[in-house]
Amino acid sequence: MRFLITAGPTREPIDPVRYISNRSSGKMGYAIAEAALDFGHDVILISGPVNLSPPRNTKFISVSTSDEMFEAVHRHADESDVCVLCAAVADYKPVQVSTIKVKKRADGISMELVPTRDILQSLGRQRARKFLLVGFAAETDHLEANATKKLLEKNCDIIVANDARVGMESDENELLILFRDGETKKISRAPKKFLARELVKIFLKFATKKFDKKDVMITERT
Ligand code: C5P
Repeated sequence: MRFLITAGPTREPIDPVRYISNRSSGKMGYAIAEAALDFGHDVILISGPVNLSPPRNTKFISVSTSDEMFEAVHRHADESDVCVLCAAVADYKPVQVSTIKVKKRADGISMELVPTRDILQSLGRQRARKFLLVGFAAETDHLEANATKKLLEKNCDIIVANDARVGMESDENELLILFRDGETKKISRAPKKFLARELVKIFLKFATKKFDKKDVMITERT
């Protein structure tokens, strides 16, 4: 099978030296990429800036902004069987990016922000989607309710939800996996490398079943 995986944060520039970003380490996405490779699959890893070395044998695409990630994902999604969007894409970006460093002032400043394009949702809205679509949800409250909302709004097949306070920047995580047919599965706290292997097995099992109303069947290629 061919996996497309996004990982890490994005950086939304304010000026040549400043940006908006978040604390995502990329560890979960990189661990999923490694697990998929270990199981013998092809992997395209599209990563924001992180302090990790890309696993060998991946097609590695390094991006910085949400727009770059959007373009890279759309360029490769249709040649994939499983798209796992694990990246912590920034939700907002500045309307204007200054070409020179914004000077410090004695009074406050305000900045106009606009929402970034939602990559996961844009794939979920594709009419003739043939790949399995997996999203992630890092929440600090009402985990199941918020993740269920995302599953429906972004029209994905699986949402992997976790408590951001446990998983962010950490080597461990605990997961609640929600499937589009209403099924749920919990995996208790464990190293991300272990969780990644369990997730890849779950994705593959799901991808080999019929997963949408159009009777699209994804079968394992030999
Ligand atoms: O809405 P929220 O950011 O919590 O959704 C998380 C999921 O959506 C993740 O799978 C993330 O990779 C994806 N996402 C995206 N593009 C965005 C924001 C989130 O693909 N602009």
